[in-house]
Amino acid sequence: MNVKGTLIYTLFEMHKDQSILPKKILYWYDKNKRHLPWRIKCSQKKKEYYTLVSEFMLQQTQVKTVIPYFNNFISKIQNLKKLSTVSDAKLMKCWEGLGYYSRARNLKKTAKKIISEFNGDLPNTIEELKTLPGIGDYTSRAIMAIAFNKPIIPLDGNVERVLKRVFYLRNDNEISKENLINKKSFFGKSNRSKDYAQAIMEIGALICK
Ligand code: ADE
Repeated sequence: MNVKGTLIYTLFEMHKDQSILPKKILYWYDKNKRHLPWRIKCSQKKKEYYTLVSEFMLQQTQVKTVIPYFNNFISKIQNLKKLSTVSDAKLMKCWEGLGYYSRARNLKKTAKKIISEFNGDLPNTIEELKTLPGIGDYTSRAIMAIAFNKPIIPLDGNVERVLKRVFYLRNDNEISKENLINKKSFFGKSNRSKDYAQAIMEIGALICK
């Protein structure tokens, strides 16, 4: 069986022994993950900034398109403080071509609000994150998982597909957001929540199409 076949087989098998699934998924992720610029090892502060910028960009744009924009953006606007005071002209120049420009405007507003109301620290609860312009359900959950390593999986089309397959979900009720978010057995015990969330996204994007 090839790598894809093995992984899909593992996903279908997991309901028999849920405890080994997270281990297998993380093992697969370590070997197969894409090396994306916002995934590099860096300080917590940088991680928070990179996660914020990348998640805003990824809201309506594919990974491969985002990569050069992300690299350019963080080279021109290096941190949250600079973002909070960047001129609109420079901000728009950095976003030019990505489209959905309200994302860029919201990103700057969010940076301002973090500086003025959260002492410059990206908040680490879903409730607080959702008070920031441009941050809704998905982005708040992605930030919680990726920047703060919390055992939370953001739900988008990719992730939904993976969960549906793993749990053999068929009817609308089973596939409801509430039901999927409550699939706690999917997490296992791992201190690698940020990798786990990204691994599920990655399986959805690369394999479980
Ligand atoms: N789509 C949305 N967020 C993502 C992320 N952090 N990595 C890959 N794809 C994504």
